[in-house]
Amino acid sequence: MRGYQLVPGGSGVYRAEEARIARGTIDTNHAGFSGIGFVNLARAEGSYAEWTVPSGAASAAALDLAYANGTGADRPMDVTVNGVLAAVGHAFPPTGGWDTWSTTSLPISLKAGANTVRVTSTTADGGPNLDRITVR
Ligand code: GCU
Repeated sequence: MRGYQLVPGGSGVYRAEEARIARGTIDTNHAGFSGIGFVNLARAEGSYAEWTVPSGAASAAALDLAYANGTGADRPMDVTVNGVLAAVGHAFPPTGGWDTWSTTSLPISLKAGANTVRVTSTTADGGPNLDRITVR
Protein backbone atom coordinates (compact mmCIF):
# COMPACT_ATOMS: atom_id res chain seq x y z
CA MET A 1 0.00 0.00 0.00
CA ARG A 2 1.45 3.35 -0.91
CA GLY A 3 1.48 6.22 1.52
CA TYR A 4 -0.96 8.73 0.14
CA GLN A 5 -0.34 12.42 0.30
CA LEU A 6 -3.51 14.46 -0.01
CA VAL A 7 -2.89 17.20 -2.54
CA PRO A 8 -5.57 19.54 -3.82
CA GLY A 9 -5.77 18.24 -7.37
CA GLY A 10 -5.25 14.56 -6.68
CA SER A 11 -2.25 14.75 -8.97
CA GLY A 12 0.02 11.79 -9.30
CA VAL A 13 0.98 8.72 -11.24
CA TYR A 14 -0.89 5.49 -10.55
CA ARG A 15 0.71 2.40 -12.02
CA ALA A 16 -0.66 -0.82 -13.38
CA GLU A 17 0.54 -2.76 -10.37
CA GLU A 18 -1.54 -0.53 -8.08
CA ALA A 19 -4.77 -1.22 -9.99
CA ARG A 20 -7.63 -3.40 -8.89
CA ILE A 21 -8.33 -5.61 -11.89
CA ALA A 22 -11.49 -7.47 -12.84
CA ARG A 23 -10.63 -10.09 -15.45
CA GLY A 24 -7.05 -9.39 -16.40
CA THR A 25 -3.43 -9.82 -15.41
CA ILE A 26 -0.28 -7.84 -14.80
CA ASP A 27 2.03 -8.75 -17.68
CA THR A 28 5.62 -7.93 -18.64
CA ASN A 29 5.96 -9.49 -22.08
CA HIS A 30 5.92 -6.27 -24.11
CA ALA A 31 8.70 -3.71 -23.61
CA GLY A 32 8.40 -0.06 -22.79
CA PHE A 33 6.17 -0.10 -19.73
CA SER A 34 7.04 1.71 -16.50
CA GLY A 35 7.26 0.11 -13.09
CA ILE A 36 6.64 -3.60 -12.57
CA GLY A 37 4.25 -4.41 -15.39
CA PHE A 38 1.18 -3.39 -17.35
CA VAL A 39 -2.48 -4.34 -17.13
CA ASN A 40 -3.61 -6.84 -19.75
CA LEU A 41 -7.40 -6.91 -19.52
CA ALA A 42 -9.28 -9.99 -20.62
CA ARG A 43 -10.66 -9.90 -24.11
CA ALA A 44 -14.18 -9.51 -22.79
CA GLU A 45 -16.72 -6.75 -22.43
CA GLY A 46 -16.77 -5.57 -18.82
CA SER A 47 -13.15 -6.33 -17.92
CA TYR A 48 -11.82 -3.35 -15.99
CA ALA A 49 -9.01 -1.74 -14.03
CA GLU A 50 -9.54 0.82 -11.32
CA TRP A 51 -7.41 2.99 -9.13
CA THR A 52 -7.97 4.98 -5.96
CA VAL A 53 -7.07 8.61 -6.51
CA PRO A 54 -7.01 10.71 -3.34
CA SER A 55 -7.70 14.40 -3.59
CA GLY A 56 -7.54 17.05 -0.93
CA ALA A 57 -10.37 19.03 -2.49
CA ALA A 58 -13.07 18.82 -5.12
CA SER A 59 -11.35 19.77 -8.36
CA ALA A 60 -11.30 19.56 -12.11
CA ALA A 61 -8.39 17.49 -13.39
CA ALA A 62 -6.99 15.88 -16.50
CA LEU A 63 -6.66 12.10 -16.69
CA ASP A 64 -3.90 10.71 -18.90
CA LEU A 65 -3.99 7.01 -19.74
CA ALA A 66 -0.77 5.43 -21.02
CA TYR A 67 -1.61 2.44 -23.19
CA ALA A 68 -0.57 0.20 -26.05
CA ASN A 69 -2.86 -1.23 -28.69
CA GLY A 70 -1.04 -3.51 -31.09
CA THR A 71 -4.11 -4.30 -33.15
CA GLY A 72 -5.47 -2.41 -36.12
CA ALA A 73 -8.70 -1.40 -34.40
CA ASP A 74 -9.82 0.92 -31.63
CA ARG A 75 -10.20 -0.61 -28.15
CA PRO A 76 -12.82 1.72 -26.64
CA MET A 77 -13.36 1.93 -22.90
CA ASP A 78 -15.87 3.58 -20.61
CA VAL A 79 -14.26 5.80 -17.99
CA THR A 80 -16.03 6.37 -14.68
CA VAL A 81 -15.07 8.44 -11.68
CA ASN A 82 -16.89 7.45 -8.49
CA GLY A 83 -19.32 5.46 -10.63
CA VAL A 84 -20.25 8.42 -12.83
CA LEU A 85 -19.39 8.22 -16.51
CA ALA A 86 -16.68 10.67 -17.55
CA ALA A 87 -16.46 9.19 -21.06
CA VAL A 88 -18.46 6.63 -22.98
CA GLY A 89 -16.41 4.47 -25.30
CA HIS A 90 -13.32 6.64 -25.00
CA ALA A 91 -11.07 5.80 -27.96
CA PHE A 92 -7.78 3.93 -27.61
CA PRO A 93 -6.60 3.88 -31.22
CA PRO A 94 -3.88 1.55 -32.55
CA THR A 95 -0.37 2.52 -31.40
CA GLY A 96 1.49 0.47 -34.01
CA GLY A 97 2.54 -2.41 -31.78
CA TRP A 98 2.19 -3.83 -28.27
CA ASP A 99 5.57 -2.35 -27.31
CA THR A 100 4.64 1.12 -28.59
CA TRP A 101 2.95 3.19 -25.90
CA SER A 102 0.85 6.29 -26.32
CA THR A 103 -1.26 8.54 -24.12
CA THR A 104 -4.85 9.61 -24.40
CA SER A 105 -6.44 12.20 -22.12
CA LEU A 106 -9.82 13.36 -20.89
CA PRO A 107 -11.12 15.78 -18.29
CA ILE A 108 -12.44 14.40 -15.00
CA SER A 109 -13.98 15.80 -11.84
CA LEU A 110 -12.64 14.72 -8.46
CA LYS A 111 -14.27 15.01 -5.06
CA ALA A 112 -12.42 15.59 -1.83
CA GLY A 113 -11.23 12.31 -0.39
CA ALA A 114 -10.82 8.95 -2.11
CA ASN A 115 -11.91 8.82 -5.75
CA THR A 116 -12.36 5.64 -7.77
CA VAL A 117 -11.25 5.92 -11.38
CA ARG A 118 -12.31 2.91 -13.44
CA VAL A 119 -11.76 2.04 -17.11
CA THR A 120 -14.00 -0.71 -18.49
CA SER A 121 -13.79 -2.58 -21.79
CA THR A 122 -16.89 -1.95 -23.89
CA THR A 123 -16.40 -4.64 -26.53
CA ALA A 124 -15.58 -8.36 -26.64
CA ASP A 125 -12.03 -7.42 -27.73
CA GLY A 126 -11.36 -6.01 -24.27
CA GLY A 127 -9.29 -2.91 -23.64
CA PRO A 128 -5.79 -1.91 -24.65
CA ASN A 129 -2.83 -2.80 -22.45
CA LEU A 130 -2.58 -0.12 -19.74
CA ASP A 131 0.72 1.01 -18.21
CA ARG A 132 -0.39 3.79 -15.87
CA ILE A 133 -2.71 6.71 -15.35
CA THR A 134 -1.63 10.22 -14.50
CA VAL A 135 -3.89 12.75 -12.83
CA ARG A 136 -2.82 16.36 -13.29
C1 GCU B 1 -1.84 -10.15 -27.50
C2 GCU B 1 -0.85 -9.37 -26.64
C3 GCU B 1 -1.49 -8.99 -25.32
C4 GCU B 1 -2.78 -8.24 -25.57
C5 GCU B 1 -3.70 -9.10 -26.42
C6 GCU B 1 -5.02 -8.43 -26.77
O1 GCU B 1 -2.10 -11.41 -26.92
O2 GCU B 1 0.30 -10.17 -26.40
O3 GCU B 1 -0.60 -8.22 -24.53
O4 GCU B 1 -3.39 -7.90 -24.37
O5 GCU B 1 -3.07 -9.45 -27.63
O6 GCU B 1 -5.44 -8.53 -27.91
O7 GCU B 1 -5.61 -7.79 -25.91
